[in-house]
Amino acid sequence: MKKEILEILKNNKNSFISGEELSNKLGVTRTAIWKYINILKEEGYKIESISRKGYKLVEEPDILSREELLIELKLSRFVDDIYYFDKVDSTNSFAKKLALEGAKEGTIILSNEQTGGRGRLGRVWISPPCSSISMSLILKPSIRPWDAAKITEITAAAVAIAIEKVTNLDVNIKWPNDIIIQNKKVCGILTEMGAELDNINYVIVGIGINVNIDEFPDEIKEVATSLKKVAGKEISRKEIVINIVREFEKLYYNFIETGSLKETVEICKRKSATLGKTVKIINKSETIIAEAVDINDEGELLVRKENGEIISVISGEVSV
Ligand code: BTN
Repeated sequence: MKKEILEILKNNKNSFISGEELSNKLGVTRTAIWKYINILKEEGYKIESISRKGYKLVEEPDILSREELLIELKLSRFVDDIYYFDKVDSTNSFAKKLALEGAKEGTIILSNEQTGGRGRLGRVWISPPCSSISMSLILKPSIRPWDAAKITEITAAAVAIAIEKVTNLDVNIKWPNDIIIQNKKVCGILTEMGAELDNINYVIVGIGINVNIDEFPDEIKEVATSLKKVAGKEISRKEIVINIVREFEKLYYNFIETGSLKETVEICKRKSATLGKTVKIINKSETIIAEAVDINDEGELLVRKENGEIISVISGEVSV
């Protein structure tokens, strides 16, 4: 009901709608409407209420909530359901649990704060309350397990474009899964999957973004930054999330339906912070020093080794 009331108020922004009209439209009492209006006010929505005129939404807070996102993303082809938590250990861990219980592709999990955020290679990911985005997408694509790395690139491209659209900042992608601004990391992507040898059960794409974080712990302050730090102003987490979903679904369905990664690769190349640089590729078995020369149509990084041989890299930890 709260979502329905909010949706009507948003559609009538800056004009009054009477309690009676709301109660007729939604089939509940005017007292029930009044109660929900008060809940919305407590959440930070500025709603003017004048007797005989009704309610007018004057200002919306920058809050991430299930209702807000479902309204803003109601035309999305991708979104099936949204879970929003104030605090959770890790949205990826929660998403995995949901995926195993049968949650559909397009289920999105968001949390205002993570207490056990996980990064790649077992690292810790810090997600402080109110100033970061911690978001996981559940996917159930009919692709081969070894193609799942492409989902990371699709996500990186979507996040880069979304951040650029909202902030106008110049954003780069450190292949395959870090988003960089002014040489510092603002976003990391952790893709995890449940699969059999030739069949994917689920893919969880976890996206962590430093949005309005003011200070970082000493261990990472030289390498991490936030959108607020570079833009010099607060950035709306809601706008970033909405834009990520919109960009992601374009690139994702394009890949799922055509099998081509063309658009994603084009973005990853154009925004690359890796190409032309000497990179260290750390895989489980070896470490290679090479020059990053290209990203091929499959999204693989092509690197020239010291002996001149060019090899392709599917995924791995790359440091520039
Ligand atoms: C990395 O750069 O190491 C990847 C960081 C991924 C962090 C995100 S935040 C949302 C999701 N939940 C997690 O526990 N991790 C990912």
